[in-house]
Amino acid sequence: MKLTIIGSGYVGLTTGACFAEVGHEVKCVDNDAEKIKTLLRGEIPIYEPGLADLVKQNVAAGRLTFTTSTPEGVEHGDVVFIAVPTPPNPDGSVDLKYIEKVAREIAPAINSYKVIVDKSTVPVKTGEKVTETIQRYAPEAEFDVVSNPEFLREGSAVADLMKPDRIVFGSNSDRASALMKKVYEPFVAPLLVTDINSAELIKHAANSFLALKISYINAISAICEASNADVELVAEGIGMDSRIGRSFLNAGLGYGGSCFPKDLAAFIAISDQLGVPFDLLKEVQKINQRQLERFVDRIRESLWVLDEKKIAVWGLAFKPNTDDLRCSVAIELVEKLVAEGARVTAYDPKGMERMRDLPIGSQIELAESPEAAARGAEALVIATEWPEFSHLDFPAVKESMQSPLLFDGRNLLDPETMRKYGFEYHGIGRGV
Ligand code: UDX
Repeated sequence: MKLTIIGSGYVGLTTGACFAEVGHEVKCVDNDAEKIKTLLRGEIPIYEPGLADLVKQNVAAGRLTFTTSTPEGVEHGDVVFIAVPTPPNPDGSVDLKYIEKVAREIAPAINSYKVIVDKSTVPVKTGEKVTETIQRYAPEAEFDVVSNPEFLREGSAVADLMKPDRIVFGSNSDRASALMKKVYEPFVAPLLVTDINSAELIKHAANSFLALKISYINAISAICEASNADVELVAEGIGMDSRIGRSFLNAGLGYGGSCFPKDLAAFIAISDQLGVPFDLLKEVQKINQRQLERFVDRIRESLWVLDEKKIAVWGLAFKPNTDDLRCSVAIELVEKLVAEGARVTAYDPKGMERMRDLPIGSQIELAESPEAAARGAEALVIATEWPEFSHLDFPAVKESMQSPLLFDGRNLLDPETMRKYGFEYHGIGRGV
């Protein structure tokens, strides 16, 4: 099929590459001419395992093309996906100006029946607004609007798209639904077709539920610390109940990234607007904030005063296998330590370049390796659970430190082994 993706950011580019991989003819549009030039050179502006190869192969095969022109894109695709950013407003609600602008740009370019698919994460009832906007700017246009939420995770986006758990789309038209089924025919996954509003809600409800699971186990971790129990065992025990499940019960410094914090705030805002305040989610946010504060309190309790202390931080990305630092709890932690006068030396396998571009990047030292970061440190903090941090020569790391304080903010390491190596080990919810 001929498909167009408007917005070649994280979701748009990955989706476009995967659609091309299964045989569709895909045109990706972006108004950033520099980005399109980069993509045409076969380079990709983000780090995502497997994506660069996928883009290269499909460009070479002629199934993936790029343009800066929305009319050209609309003309090409029978199905046009909107995957532009939906940033938060200061009050947490979603700023839909890019969606509205794209809808206005699409309208006059519609030259035959088109399915316009919203892939960006948007509040419920946005599909209705997109329909109204296109109708206003092109009263004669023949089109239907569909909502098709995306559930990919950074770091495993290609695999999530090629082998999804489920495919959900919401459509109020049989003609549009038939075309959408054809788009997804090459993907083997359970398909759920709903009305537009339900599909929009599914995305916010799913992400909020996952964030709730994380905050739930983090709240339990605080109780474990107060009662000398082990949150890892508690998670194991409750996760064995198939109704609960073990995944997303990893206690840590809390959730971050470009989705959960934003989607929760957006869901709270839209619920308020609809007159049905979702206070449970406000508590989820509070627990997430408190989790980091409690962790910094524990570091302070051990070091007494953070001013002038050399603290090594391993991990800056919001989770492993990505260079994305957006809303990373690790960065928030570094900011808190620096604010109290600590001298932070940090290392991240993929996030160093982006760290240099952040204001906080110039206020810390960036080390060449985890070992170099730890050298001479009075405390070592693990803020992101990169697997490679668990395979280091820990006795040597301990020897190189000023004092062997280890704060494992992601429960990556085995407490007993670390204590055997001579570390004073502090995990999350792992007793005293
Ligand atoms: C999330 C959703 O998983 C995905 O379906 C949606 O499309 C986009 O948002 P992503 O933000 O890429 O994906 O990351 P995810 O793996 O879900 O992790 C989000 C945050 O939660 C990370 O900061 C991670 O460290 C944290 N997390 C996750 C925990 O603290 N504990 C867990 O058990 C799981």
